[in-house]
Amino acid sequence: MSKTLLRIDASARTMGSVSRTLADAVQHAWQTANPDGRVVLRDLAAQPVPHISPDTITGYYTPTDQLTPALRAATALSDELIAELLAAHTLLISTPMYNFSIPSALKAYIDQIVRLNHTFAADENGLRGLVADRPTFIASAAGAVYTGTNIAGLNFEGPYLTTLLGFLGIASVELLSVEGTTVDPQAMEATLQQTRERIHALLH
Ligand SMILES: Cc1cc2nc3c(=O)[nH]c(=O)nc-3n(C[C@H](O)[C@H](O)[C@H](O)COP(=O)(O)O)c2cc1C
Repeated sequence: MSKTLLRIDASARTMGSVSRTLADAVQHAWQTANPDGRVVLRDLAAQPVPHISPDTITGYYTPTDQLTPALRAATALSDELIAELLAAHTLLISTPMYNFSIPSALKAYIDQIVRLNHTFAADENGLRGLVADRPTFIASAAGAVYTGTNIAGLNFEGPYLTTLLGFLGIASVELLSVEGTTVDPQAMEATLQQTRERIHALLH
């Protein structure tokens, strides 16, 4: 069976989005390495995933055989998104930094896929991820520069995403960040080029 790349885009911008440009480079390299591969795209800006509702939450904590039609309907999107995630051989999440973290569009998606007894377990042994590890790329863009600067501690984006993925069981995460997108266009272009080279090395 051919491999699947699940690409999730989160920038509100389509034109001029650095995180989407980076994701294009990852997708291109992945498709070159997997010519028979299939790309599934979730564009969270074009088609936003709704926030969970009270019925979604009740549905999350109700055993499957006891779900009412209303609770089934409220958890149907979560079922679909989790099935899509579990079927993917490789994950690619592209995201800007908004207010030191991820955009709410991506958080709404996360709230649909992090689900007890589906993607994580909680029992007497504590918390355990239920998602099998798989190659995962995070393509992120931030306006300022955090790495090696005195504002490094304000970056909750990459650390949050890698922690969350690790919680679900996904440890094979490559964090590809372009920082300083609003600071110096030339420096940003140089970083983008370096990151493209890293993508090429990782996927060939
Ligand atoms: C609503 C909003 C909030 C932002 N917050 C931050 C921030 O907290 N820190 C930062 O370094 N850049 C911030 N930026 C700048 C973006 O991270 C930067 O423009 C990045 O390139 C956006 O990703 P994109 O190019 O894929 O759209 C913000 C931009 C927007 C629109």
